[in-house]
Amino acid sequence: MTAYDEIDSEAVWNRLDDAEHPIVNPVSAESVDRLLNRVPLAPGAHVLDVGCGLGAWVLRALELHPGTRGTGVDVSAAHVAKARAAADKRGLADRFDARVGDGTALPPGDPADLVLCMGLCDAFGGVRATLDRLRPHVRPDGHLLLGEPFWERPPDAAALAALGIGADKHTDLDGVVAAALDAGWAPVHGYVSTPGEWDGFVWACVRGLADWGFAEADPAARRNILRYMADYRDAWLQGYRGVLGFGTLLLRPVPAPLRVFTGRRPAWAAGPWTRD
Ligand SMILES: C[S@@+](CC[C@H](N)C(=O)[O-])C[C@H]1O[C@@H](n2cnc3c(N)ncnc32)[C@H](O)[C@@H]1O
Repeated sequence: MTAYDEIDSEAVWNRLDDAEHPIVNPVSAESVDRLLNRVPLAPGAHVLDVGCGLGAWVLRALELHPGTRGTGVDVSAAHVAKARAAADKRGLADRFDARVGDGTALPPGDPADLVLCMGLCDAFGGVRATLDRLRPHVRPDGHLLLGEPFWERPPDAAALAALGIGADKHTDLDGVVAAALDAGWAPVHGYVSTPGEWDGFVWACVRGLADWGFAEADPAARRNILRYMADYRDAWLQGYRGVLGFGTLLLRPVPAPLRVFTGRRPAWAAGPWTRD
């Protein structure tokens, strides 16, 4: 019998490819393409996807940038198995290496031309920790694509209860940008997911749970899965819809001597658009 509290994000997300939304974030396939096309990647370039989930981002990067090679790391063996199977199916297996591992404790190695970290800052202990820890894994002339939830508007009690977090868990979008600037990165492109992308993602999760609960589960487990499905849906509809946003920043590492130019002007300095 499956107890309600034995169903977790991994179980929900592992069904997303069946629900035709293998991106485990509120981002559409079109947006993934647009974002990945912003990154210049020559043949031979290496893409490292930290917390690769079902492999949607890294495999698409390999398709869009011929001759590149990719590595996906995820703590979930089930996700990594799916990412490998997808690579096989799409003829990318010879360019893709998938590993089960803790992305927050990557061993030192050759830095990558593009590091993807979509929806994993929580595991690192926040945005700033993520940016600091991933820096050695990005080439000095490389890019980091960082996706992170933020408060689209100040969360009310219903949103916080639905998410089971405090208001200090996230900042607004400017707070994410500020963390990147403080850590010595320059945002060179940004994208905020639309309400339609959020709906697409959450309904795909609900759909995966519905297929599991109605059609596949053993009858004894069915009611718990369906209860989970209903709570998942209502946490969204009655809780955090329109409150939690999701932003993706394309970041370049900035050498220390240049940070004074790419960071924000201090409050006492001349305003924007004024020459020093
Ligand atoms: C929100 S999902 C995003 C998956 C993928 N980046 C995407 O956008 O499709 C977060 C992923 O991070 C993985 N994860 C969580 N903690 C991790 C850790 N410490 N190391 C590696 N992966 C982790 C989860 O298993 C999950 O696949």
